[in-house]
Amino acid sequence: MATDACEEHGIHLLDDYKLLNRIFGGLIPYFGSTRNPVDVTGQSDEEKYAKVLRAALASDKIHTILLIYCQAAQSRPRDMARYIIEETKRNPLKPVITVFIGGEESKKAIETLLSSGIPSFPDVGRAVRSLAAYYRWVGYKKELSQKKKLEEFDMNLEKIKNVIRSARIEGRTQLLETESNDICEAAGIKTAVTRFCETVDECLDQAEELGYPVVLKVVSEDIIHKSDVGGVKVDLGSPEELITAYTEIMSNIGRKKPGARIRGMLVSKMVRDGLETIAGISRDPQFGPIVMFGLGGVYVEALKDVSFRVAPLTKLDAHKMVHQIRASRLLYGFRGEKRRDISAIIDVLLRLGQLSTKVEDIVEMDLNPLLVLPKGGGCIAVDTRITITKEAKP
Ligand SMILES: Nc1ncnc2c1ncn2[C@@H]1O[C@H](COP(=O)(O)OP(=O)(O)OP(=O)(O)O)[C@@H](O)[C@H]1O
Ligand SMILES: [Mg+2]
Repeated sequence: MATDACEEHGIHLLDDYKLLNRIFGGLIPYFGSTRNPVDVTGQSDEEKYAKVLRAALASDKIHTILLIYCQAAQSRPRDMARYIIEETKRNPLKPVITVFIGGEESKKAIETLLSSGIPSFPDVGRAVRSLAAYYRWVGYKKELSQKKKLEEFDMNLEKIKNVIRSARIEGRTQLLETESNDICEAAGIKTAVTRFCETVDECLDQAEELGYPVVLKVVSEDIIHKSDVGGVKVDLGSPEELITAYTEIMSNIGRKKPGARIRGMLVSKMVRDGLETIAGISRDPQFGPIVMFGLGGVYVEALKDVSFRVAPLTKLDAHKMVHQIRASRLLYGFRGEKRRDISAIIDVLLRLGQLSTKVEDIVEMDLNPLLVLPKGGGCIAVDTRITITKEAKP
């Protein structure tokens, strides 16, 4: 019953049977059990219980002790309580929670224990719930102490403010992709090297400079989702492929979005071997800036498998965000796939958190996709989008 209750409340029982046997082997009758839950048996008297408790208190592998005592012929609750108080004094920092099941004498023993500062309950369910609450409290304290030491990243805030200012002067609240890239870079988030071009010849020159393979994307204020209208071509390996892609994009748009104003094209360096994730910032009227993370593609669109945290984030927050999504196993190299650079994702999430609190002009920001390379390779945002406020923020 105690085992089920622990499982239900997420309390992990020590299950190293060899270790448990080493600790308790010589102290328990042969018909008892050294496995967790350890069974000292009703045949044991107070002294035997006390020895088992002493061994548990002494082991640094055991963090918390839940001692369940049922009143039996061999022992008296009052003496049992006295032994528990004595033993816990030897190691006052390790939590010991007791359950005394029995009649009037057990009730009195519970009072004695409580007056000595030892949590004591008449039933297992309440004891385990309290233990779970205690663990939550310890976790919360740990998070709070981390919040105090928030990591500060170097960011070029001057540059970020300048990009925002010049877009605002032109009356835009939607930044161009190249502007969004500049902000990412100034915040320490890597983006694909990207150049804006107005003609096919310029595209060819820039591609030569960046080195093939490249990606070609249309730039138009009338097109919100570029690939929906055939406005993105990836993995172009040569000038010939680039020219064909350029012509195809132009004719796709002519068919699917006739009349769209085309400013030009972006030529980006192709990033290979990245797992698609998305990350971003939004603002909630109640909670303020929020950071989001999820795996890209169908995981976000169909399954809504994303996690959120209020900024600023601690490292623990960012870590939890990554592991909270259902598809997080994919990041660890599922079925022969490569393990991904998870610490680089955490770095990006922390930076987004800091950016959202330092630059209040950013209403919304999307890195979609943020490509995560194999471990050690980092993350690269290959499609960035930022919306800013109409009015300047302090
Ligand atoms: N530099 C790049 N390297 C590798 N793959 C890329 C690169 N740029 C884009 N891609 C791939 O092409 C897809 C579409 O590109 P992108 O995200 O820029 O367009 P989009 O999502 O259609 O546009 P929007 O975000 O405006 O809807 C990306 O999801 C990604 O898979
Ligand atoms: Mg995109």
